[in-house]
Amino acid sequence: MRLREPLVLPCGQTLPNRIAKAAMTEGLADARMNATPALETLYRRWSHGGAGLLITGNVQIDRWDLERPGNVVIDGDADRDALARWAAAAKEGASHVWMQLSHAGRQAPLYCTPRPVAPSPVGLKLLGAYRTPRALTRKGIASVIERFVNAATIAREAGFDGVQIHSAHGYLLSEFLSPVTNRRQDDYGGSLENRARLLLAVVRAVREAVGNDFAIGVKLNSADFQKGGFSNDECIQVVRWLNDCGIDLLEISGGSYEQPRLLGHSGDESQAEAPRQSTRRREAYFLEYAALIRKAASMPLMVTGGFRSRDAMVEALDSGDTDVIGLGRPLCVDPNFVARLFENTTAQAVDPGADLAYGQGMFGPRSSVSALRFVNIFSQMGWYYMQLMRMGRGLEPDWNMALRQGLFGHVRSELSAARRIRSFQKQADTLDAE
Ligand SMILES: Cc1cc2nc3c(=O)[nH]c(=O)nc-3n(C[C@H](O)[C@H](O)[C@H](O)COP(=O)(O)O)c2cc1C
Repeated sequence: MRLREPLVLPCGQTLPNRIAKAAMTEGLADARMNATPALETLYRRWSHGGAGLLITGNVQIDRWDLERPGNVVIDGDADRDALARWAAAAKEGASHVWMQLSHAGRQAPLYCTPRPVAPSPVGLKLLGAYRTPRALTRKGIASVIERFVNAATIAREAGFDGVQIHSAHGYLLSEFLSPVTNRRQDDYGGSLENRARLLLAVVRAVREAVGNDFAIGVKLNSADFQKGGFSNDECIQVVRWLNDCGIDLLEISGGSYEQPRLLGHSGDESQAEAPRQSTRRREAYFLEYAALIRKAASMPLMVTGGFRSRDAMVEALDSGDTDVIGLGRPLCVDPNFVARLFENTTAQAVDPGADLAYGQGMFGPRSSVSALRFVNIFSQMGWYYMQLMRMGRGLEPDWNMALRQGLFGHVRSELSAARRIRSFQKQADTLDAE
């Protein structure tokens, strides 16, 4: 079967099949932001679930700029044994495991990141949860590159097969790419060449540090879908530059917190750029863009977002527009979906996402008030996070969980995780001061 074909990557590693679990932030780190037994339990489960590649949720490279208080962080203090146990659990069922490395930039909520940094001081106005970031200095930019290198080196030593550099969804590296969030006047801002400088420098420096047999992926937006943002034409040019950087897999996604197209939603319509008409009709919503990117890309491609049926996956591989199919939400509710697909006991993912969005949406299906629209999306994300948390405890996903349970359960666990890391951060502050 097409989906079961192995894929030889440029680094020489062979992925056992064409399905990857896409990165999904787990929020399961401990107070010191280290990997935990819950992460081992979750990834052991997925490893036996059939996907050839598991990409971890975003692991942060800077403990002072978090996407969530439960993020794993890799810096000088990382618990390397805990990382090694996580990698081993994720490889138990013969899947490969890559660590997604990220810097949250301005998309860092104030309850865990009091002083976010970004290319420029352009605030994120979303439910009052984000502080205006400080612009990174040149020294700060050099430190970001160093931190990516350090984290990738530690991931390799811990037994991960590769890393994926997160340059999508409005986090730091994608903030540099977008003219909306990057207003810099130095050689990291302005022209596309300048806006892409940090991403290319990170990828080259990581490759140099980890050697040629370790896998490196990049997750990139096909576009931001935001007026004046990073466009599809710009994405294609960045891909041409990435061709020379020794990448093994380029994952195509799109959007940001403001325009959550990665999940098939739009945000504030007044600031949105419409997707292509043909995209609206397709199950996998970035495939049209992947077809254009394919013409420019020399590395293997992965497309994530919306895949639910075997037919759509096989068709996408047959068309040559992608080499790997990325799956997110279906694996939160059915961790064995891929194995069942391979055994021919199913041809369609269970995904309550559509019901959550349009059936039991808390504030009406397509609320025209953007704040309510965001609360709806936030509630849905909370629902999926709660499923990951259940699996981390060794429980089955609960398809019948109410949307409000997702929202309130998630808010409760975020705030308690924020309290836990805050006391640790205070200790770290005191030690720094001494
Ligand atoms: C609960 C959850 C957490 C996510 N966390 C991340 C993340 O840490 N890094 C990332 O690149 N994408 C993240 N995403 C986006 C997914 O990788 C994927 O792009 C998106 O869910 C669309 O794929 P799907 O339609 O198969 O769910 C997350 C999505 C969900 C639902």
